[in-house]
Amino acid sequence: MSQDKKTDWVAIVLAAGQGTRMKSPLPKVLHVIAGRPLVAYPLEAAFDAGVQRCVAVVGHGREQVESALEERFASRVSTAVQTEQRGTGHAVQCAMESAALADFEGNVVILYGDCPLIPTESVRALMDGLRAGGPDLAMLTSTLDQPHGYGRILRDGEGRVCAIREQRDCSADEAAVKEVNPGLYAVRAPFLRSAIASLRDDNAQGELYLTDVVAQAASAGGVVDIPWDMADLRGVNDRYELAVCAEERRQRIAAQLARSGVAVRDLRTLYVDADCEVAPGAVIEPQVHLRGRCVVEAGARIDVGAVLTDVTVRAGAEVLPYTVATESVIGEEATVGPFTHLRPQTDLGRKAKVGNFSETKKTIVGEGSKVNHLSYVGDGVIGKNVNIGAGTIFCNYDGVRKHTTTLEDNVFIGSDSQLVAPVTVGAGAYVASGTTVTRDVPPDALAVARTKQQNKEGYAAHFRARAKASRGPTDGT
Ligand code: UD1
Ligand code: CA
Repeated sequence: MSQDKKTDWVAIVLAAGQGTRMKSPLPKVLHVIAGRPLVAYPLEAAFDAGVQRCVAVVGHGREQVESALEERFASRVSTAVQTEQRGTGHAVQCAMESAALADFEGNVVILYGDCPLIPTESVRALMDGLRAGGPDLAMLTSTLDQPHGYGRILRDGEGRVCAIREQRDCSADEAAVKEVNPGLYAVRAPFLRSAIASLRDDNAQGELYLTDVVAQAASAGGVVDIPWDMADLRGVNDRYELAVCAEERRQRIAAQLARSGVAVRDLRTLYVDADCEVAPGAVIEPQVHLRGRCVVEAGARIDVGAVLTDVTVRAGAEVLPYTVATESVIGEEATVGPFTHLRPQTDLGRKAKVGNFSETKKTIVGEGSKVNHLSYVGDGVIGKNVNIGAGTIFCNYDGVRKHTTTLEDNVFIGSDSQLVAPVTVGAGAYVASGTTVTRDVPPDALAVARTKQQNKEGYAAHFRARAKASRGPTDGT
């Protein structure tokens, strides 16, 4: 093995368990917190801390977990399959025997896949703990008032870590220990490989415990133990813990945005997914949800109740209350809402406006153009400074296929018009209110297609008199 390999780092993330207590058909590690599956959190923390690659151990719901990992991490994460869940030690054996690690001589961080609050710094602390020439294993430890369920840290007369005892294997004295194993370790690969080879399943659960590696390291040369607050390292075992961790994540994201310079009006009701970016100087009013991968640039303002998913909001744009938008771009200084629905592939240019009760889909709205009231605009290509009057409909669907409506620059569409696609309205043309456009309109033309108005003098009074005369006696008023 080459020398530099000894300084390489990989992470093994254990994600093969079923998570029975979740009472869910979804594998536990795919439950979502702040837009990411649980398993993404330890992986992201490991990469951020500086590991070069990760191996996830998969088993239950293997195909689903593998495709979620592939989608998010591509080749940065490989998988090792654990067909039968014979314990955390067995899971690490599966990882170490996998093609990705078969002759790896560097260092390994081991993390559990169900710890969604894990900070990058905790992984870095572990990596720093494994110094050249020192012990072969570093681990975090925590102290809890209610340690039940966790493995307990056992120390010798001189206070050195000597073993971890699982809850079900504890004597009464051991069960009284409040120092617990959060389940994060850094280990040199050669030591780890030989230690896991000698694990035995002579314990209450008949499993191969990864934690028994700690006792081996303790007698071989000691263990580096690093205290850490359990609040960061909590695992998820049921939906209550999932909700608790989700709320904690939400609060941390909101606090971090506010500290970074985002004007967060209400820390209690801001829901921003972990993969969103909000620039300092943006303003976010209460009850806003930013989901998926939103980007909000400086000076943008997101008003009350907006729900944005995978949306980019450019500098100075305003998203007014109760806007719902998905996979769209809101251009610089554009205005959207209130009560607007932007569906996927909406692309609003600079200073464009889409107003109340309008819906857009797969449409480009050029600079300065307006769709202000009650319109449906789908499969559209709209130029600059176009005005679309209230109640306009792009009739984009013929029951089989979708067709494009093109409005060139400076077009004016009168209220309550329909544009039956495919159709083009040339630059500067007018479409009169109430027109159904079925043929292209040349530039600078006026299109009008509606029946001529007739006024029948006195007809309303005559109509009322006739209605009164025919009114039955039981009508009361
Ligand atoms: C484990 C630790 C315990 C620690 C606790 C912290 C062991 C033996 N015990 O216990 O000391 O206090 O975590 O939360 O390690 N997994 C596999 N394959 C398996 C078994 C588990 O991939 O065969 C995965 C699970 O999906 C999970 C993780 O390993 O992500 C931890 O397994 P779990 O069964 O929850 O371990 P605990 O009993 O909680
Ligand atoms: Ca657990």
